[in-house]
Amino acid sequence: MFTERLCSVMERELALEFARVTEAAAIACARWWGRGNKNAADNASVGAMRRMFDTVNIDGVVVIGEGERDEAPMLYIGEKVGTGKHVQVDVAVDPLEGTNLVAKGLTGAISVLAVAPKDCLLHAPDMYMEKIATGPATVGKVSLDASVTENVKAVAKSLQKTVQDVTVVILDRERHRKIIEELREIGARIKLISDGDVSPAVATCIPGSGVDMVLGIGGAPEGVLAAAALRCMGGEFQGRLWPENKQEIERAHKLGIKDLKKILTLDDLVKGDDVVFAATGVTDGDFLKGVRYYGNHVTTHTVIMRGASGTIRFLEARHRMDKKSQYVEVF
Ligand code: FBP
Repeated sequence: MFTERLCSVMERELALEFARVTEAAAIACARWWGRGNKNAADNASVGAMRRMFDTVNIDGVVVIGEGERDEAPMLYIGEKVGTGKHVQVDVAVDPLEGTNLVAKGLTGAISVLAVAPKDCLLHAPDMYMEKIATGPATVGKVSLDASVTENVKAVAKSLQKTVQDVTVVILDRERHRKIIEELREIGARIKLISDGDVSPAVATCIPGSGVDMVLGIGGAPEGVLAAAALRCMGGEFQGRLWPENKQEIERAHKLGIKDLKKILTLDDLVKGDDVVFAATGVTDGDFLKGVRYYGNHVTTHTVIMRGASGTIRFLEARHRMDKKSQYVEVF
C-alpha cells in the first residue's frame, strides 16, 4: 500500500478508469433530459457512479460528495469507494453537476470527479464560496481582493484583448447584481448561466471555448472540483468561503478551516499536482458534447486530465447499451 503519489504505471490506467466512472454517471442521468425531475436524474447518476467505482482499483474515501452520511444514501462524505486495493486516495464527486439543467433540458450539465492522494483535496464544507477562475495567461494577475474592474482589465491585458472582448461567466443570481452592474458599466461580455459553474471554470483553460473568466458565488464543493481541473491545466483559481450562518461557520471550523476570510489558492484547495480530473458531458456545453442516443448505442464525450503530466485528453466513446445494462437505470 502506498499513499505518497499516484505515481506508478497504474496512474495512467486509473485515469481511464475514472473516465469510465463519469461516463456511466452521465449515461444514467441523460435519459432524464427535460423530464422535470431533477432528483430522479441525480439519483440515476449517483447510483451508476457508485456501481462503477466498485470496479476501480483504489482505496478511496469520498471527501466531497452527495452530503453527510445521514442525508445521502450513496457517495456520502466519508464513504469508502473502490476495491480497497492499491492507492489511498481522496475522491471528490458530483455525479450530476447541474441537476436543474438536465431537468429543464438546458446546456452545461456534466458528471464530474477528481481524485488525489489521501489528504490532498480540501474537505470543503457544503456552503457557498466566492470564486474567480481564469486561464493560464492570467496566473498571479487576478485576485479575489481586487475589484471586478481590476480583474477584468488584468484578464484583458494578459489575453491581449480589450475589456469589451472579455467574456465573463456568472451564475444568474440576485446576489451577483452588483458584479453584473459593474461588468456592464465597463462593457465586458457577460454570459449568465442558470446553474453549473464547474464547466465554465474549466472552459477558461480551453482555447476556443469562448470563456475567459468565471466570477461570483457558487458551491464550495464545486469550487474544489473546478480547482482540481485548473490545477491540471495550469489555470488560476481562488476561492473564499461564504458562510451564511453560525452553523456553517462551525461546520468549516470542524473541517479544520480556521480562517474563513482567507483566500484559498490552488495550493490550499488541491495539494500538489498529483491529481486526476474527469468530466463527461450530460448535455451539450462549452467544451463537451452531451450524451447522444443512436438506437443500439450511446455516445459520450469526456475530458480526462492528469496534473502530474499535464496531459488533457478528450475521449469520444460509443457504448453498446445491450452490453451495459448493469450500469444504467432501467425505465
Ligand atoms: P446542482 O447541485 O443542482 O447540480 O446545482 C449546482 C450549482 O448550480 C453549482 O454549479 C453552483 O456552484 C451552485 O449550484 C449554485 O448554488 P445556488 O443554486 O444555490 O445559487
